[in-house]
Amino acid sequence: MIPSLQRYNELKKDLNEHAHRYYVLDAPVISDAQYDLLYQELEALERDHPEWISADSPTQRVGGAVLEQFNSVRHGQAMLSIKTQTDSEESGAKSFDDRIRKELSLAQNDSQVQYVAELKFDGLAINLTYLNGVLVRAATRGDGAYGEEVTQNVRSIMQIPIQLRSPIKGAPIPEWLEVRGEVYMKRSDFDRLNLRQLEKIAQGLKNEKTFVNPRNAAAGALRQLDSKIAAERKLSFFAYGVGAVRGKASIALNTNLQQHELDSVLNALTQDETASRVEISLNELRAMGLSSHWEVLSWLKDLGFPVASQTQCVEGVDGLIDFHTRMGIERTSLPYDIDGVVYKVNRLDWQLQLGFVTREPRWAVAHKYPPQEQFTTVLGIEVQVGRTGKLTPVAKLAPVFVGGVTVTNATLHNEDEALRKDVRVGDTVIVRRAGDVIPEIVGVVLEKRADQSLPFEMPKRCPICQSPALREPGQVDHRCTGELYCSAQRMQSIWHFASKRAMNIEDLGEKLIEQLVQTQIVKTVADLYRLGLSSLMVLERMAEKSASNVLKSIESSKATTLAKFLYALGIRHVGESTAKDLAKHFGSIDAIMDASVDQLLEVRDVGPVVAMSVVAFFSQPHHRELIEQLRALGVHWQEVQIDLDAVKPLQGSTYVITGTLNGFSRDQAQELLESLGAKVASSVSKKTTAVIAGAEAGSKLEKAQDLGVPVLDEEAFLALLAQHRSE
Ligand code: IVH
Repeated sequence: MIPSLQRYNELKKDLNEHAHRYYVLDAPVISDAQYDLLYQELEALERDHPEWISADSPTQRVGGAVLEQFNSVRHGQAMLSIKTQTDSEESGAKSFDDRIRKELSLAQNDSQVQYVAELKFDGLAINLTYLNGVLVRAATRGDGAYGEEVTQNVRSIMQIPIQLRSPIKGAPIPEWLEVRGEVYMKRSDFDRLNLRQLEKIAQGLKNEKTFVNPRNAAAGALRQLDSKIAAERKLSFFAYGVGAVRGKASIALNTNLQQHELDSVLNALTQDETASRVEISLNELRAMGLSSHWEVLSWLKDLGFPVASQTQCVEGVDGLIDFHTRMGIERTSLPYDIDGVVYKVNRLDWQLQLGFVTREPRWAVAHKYPPQEQFTTVLGIEVQVGRTGKLTPVAKLAPVFVGGVTVTNATLHNEDEALRKDVRVGDTVIVRRAGDVIPEIVGVVLEKRADQSLPFEMPKRCPICQSPALREPGQVDHRCTGELYCSAQRMQSIWHFASKRAMNIEDLGEKLIEQLVQTQIVKTVADLYRLGLSSLMVLERMAEKSASNVLKSIESSKATTLAKFLYALGIRHVGESTAKDLAKHFGSIDAIMDASVDQLLEVRDVGPVVAMSVVAFFSQPHHRELIEQLRALGVHWQEVQIDLDAVKPLQGSTYVITGTLNGFSRDQAQELLESLGAKVASSVSKKTTAVIAGAEAGSKLEKAQDLGVPVLDEEAFLALLAQHRSE
């Protein structure tokens, strides 16, 4: 052989092996740069000797002519479909196992049937044909007998070997081999593709669109006439079985055939009526030493195919149920979509014995999961107003059961999202809910759209108070400018004010707030503290008992902490932890109200957005007035004067609070200590400075006494505070 031809063949083999290690095993042994060098060497040889270029060269994965249409080709062995069992977990697996045992005439006391349990990938079935170990054809399923030839697109799928690896041990490479499996798109590749599509649409490229799910995107990529586009879309593959198999010397293939010659050889092979005979293939496999489906899968792995690592050999019905349950849980964390699992009888001789009914094997069944996607119709698009005035378009849907719950709403988030999805009233849409994720509309079925439908428009005015709704430059959200004039904002802000982590007004429920706001009995949160029995009892369905409960919980909410009060005000961007930080840092509401942006920026975790939002809030006179009113009505907390420059007097000490204090809640006591620089811990150790023990203190007090940690009663605690606050 010419030395350089030898080198050429070696390079092909090495590069294919490295691609396998990289894309299938995820365990490369050379760097990308080293790979590129070898690849360039191969390209150079091909430039000098175009006559050497063969189908199994890595350079043949990309490029190729743009096709006019796809050829229809005959599969060696028909591509079957598979019976679907949608019954519940137990009965689905049980009825399959019962049927198999009956058909195989197995007695009650015969041992369990062995099955291979696989994932049912949500992609497209593909038939890969190898002649003497070289990929020569790939075809879609089509009608089962004939499919469309998509070889050039499939060559670009790096997980699919273009040249089979020689297994070190066991079965050799047959002359003719059909490998069956699923072409799919990973969710991450799908997301990236849709992002790229969005960019193209934004650039004004007309014929571009986004895809509704990975399956549709994979189907679109596979059916690209321009294989360069297919290659960009990053498809993946899993092998799950074989079709026609003819071992060495059974058809005596001439090696070194050119592509067009291979094509006619293949056409002749598939036209031969014996090609479709399943028993011939099974006997070939057996002659190669493979007697079970599990062995076939592991042989396919040796040949270079990816086989899903979840695939498992299980015993009997219990094994099937267990697999179904486990994969049902694992499903949402897989990097790709599955719509069920597949059970297959492991023994090939039993598969042969069980045979087929019409187009389905009797030895396999698909056991589906409830769908994560469903079709439904959009009944309307409602715009909801949030506490801070944010307008959110929400699609109202005809109720649909998906991902385990009935879905009636799906948020469209904001104007940009709503326009991007172009969801319209009356549209048929695909709703998706995977795991615990919020349900979302993934796409519109445009074919079903009514001619007269109109695009959604964000309202120019707040749907509740009719104040102008504005979208600030650089922002995605529209906001109602009505603030407290807007009853929706009022209601939401009162609801927030009363919520557990804010003022914790237990008996003030959502319905009651709605009534109070609508009747205008309550206009601001201060009005809550002006409520009396008589004003509550004018409301529908309000008995004296419940009215007095409401008043009681309003009354007890008056004793609070600065942090909770701040949080309750509902300042934009001031969540619970920021409120705590602000309270700790400044010590009093007056200090916070008067703080400048710069002073606010000194607080841990406070950035410009929060700082400006706080300043903006307190620059509004009606907010200051509201705070005054609340204080006058009896809302109170312990304030501490903090000299921001001074080292805090209790810096470095750690206190534990236990039991019930009379004058303070736990939170108040903690806040006071922290404002003086102390840490408050939840358990006592030798390092504890002192334990503050109220009435009915229990084990923590005992522990302190055991360890000799000082104990302060409430009086001593007050003295401690007094001492340091006057410093
Ligand atoms: S076996 C003789 N195994 O489901 C049995 N099919 O109707 C032939 N599918 O579109 C199919 N995952 O592409 C088999 N692990 C799996 C599968 C699987 C997905 C698809 C297949 C076809 C449909 C079967």
